[in-house]
Amino acid sequence: MFCANSITPQALEAAYEDAEAKNMRVRGVLITNPSNPLGATIQRVVLEEILDFVTSKNIHLVSDEIYSGSAFSSSAFVSIAEILEARQYKNSERVHIVYSLSKDLGLPGFRIGTVYSYNDKVVTTARRMSSFTLISSQTQHLLASMLSDKEFTENYIKTNRERLRKRYDMIIEGLKKAGIECLKGNAGLFCWMNLSPLLEKPTREGELALWDSMLHEVKLNISPGSSCHCSEPGWFRVCFANMSELTLEVALKRIHNFMKRRERSWNLFSSL
Ligand SMILES: Cc1ncc(COP(=O)(O)O)c(C=O)c1O
Repeated sequence: MFCANSITPQALEAAYEDAEAKNMRVRGVLITNPSNPLGATIQRVVLEEILDFVTSKNIHLVSDEIYSGSAFSSSAFVSIAEILEARQYKNSERVHIVYSLSKDLGLPGFRIGTVYSYNDKVVTTARRMSSFTLISSQTQHLLASMLSDKEFTENYIKTNRERLRKRYDMIIEGLKKAGIECLKGNAGLFCWMNLSPLLEKPTREGELALWDSMLHEVKLNISPGSSCHCSEPGWFRVCFANMSELTLEVALKRIHNFMKRRERSWNLFSSL
């Protein structure tokens, strides 16, 4: 399965060779830590292996850490910056971290992102390019006063973490009651659930047919794994943080009903 904790040197090598066989020149590796869509952080040892891989291939590493403030437990997230520092890594100009205020602060409309690169050329280019996407002075003023308020930021991160953990526990428990298995998560605004036992055919088409049934039968639009390039059919990404608790309860009830209906039609089918 495509899983943050299962990025292995072998998988990286295979992807690299596959790209080369297609005449593509590989320039870098892009990771999302914590992962979207898995809702899990990448372990330190895996980050070290990824860094070793890009070093051996002499390519870049872009780490998208947009969900870094949304890890449920304070020790769960390790930034690639910490690995560089701990190793006193010499070639850090190949590493670039990207972040934005869209997720942890729930401010996607502000369109504010950052590039934290160890590469002077990248920083200079980004600075020059930024004149095309300037942030208004009012927005800068608002954010500067908000983010420099230590008491506010500490409280915000703590409350955000507690609320996400509560929601995560609620969705995992609700899905478990409906007989659905989920990947163990520790970050982000979604969880990764396995509906492969419901597939009529274990293919992308089978997965999309299931997505269509959920949409029309119980009016739930849950992202199919194939839309996130998951190679194993039957996985879905469920967002649990962009709605009220009441809406989530309604959604869980609908998933439960959907599962019950499937179970009934199987029983009917097997008794024929
Ligand atoms: C991993 C990841 N990176 C980047 C983005 C882009 O966020 P924005 O353009 O709102 O900053 C998203 C949004 O879904 C995301 O999930």
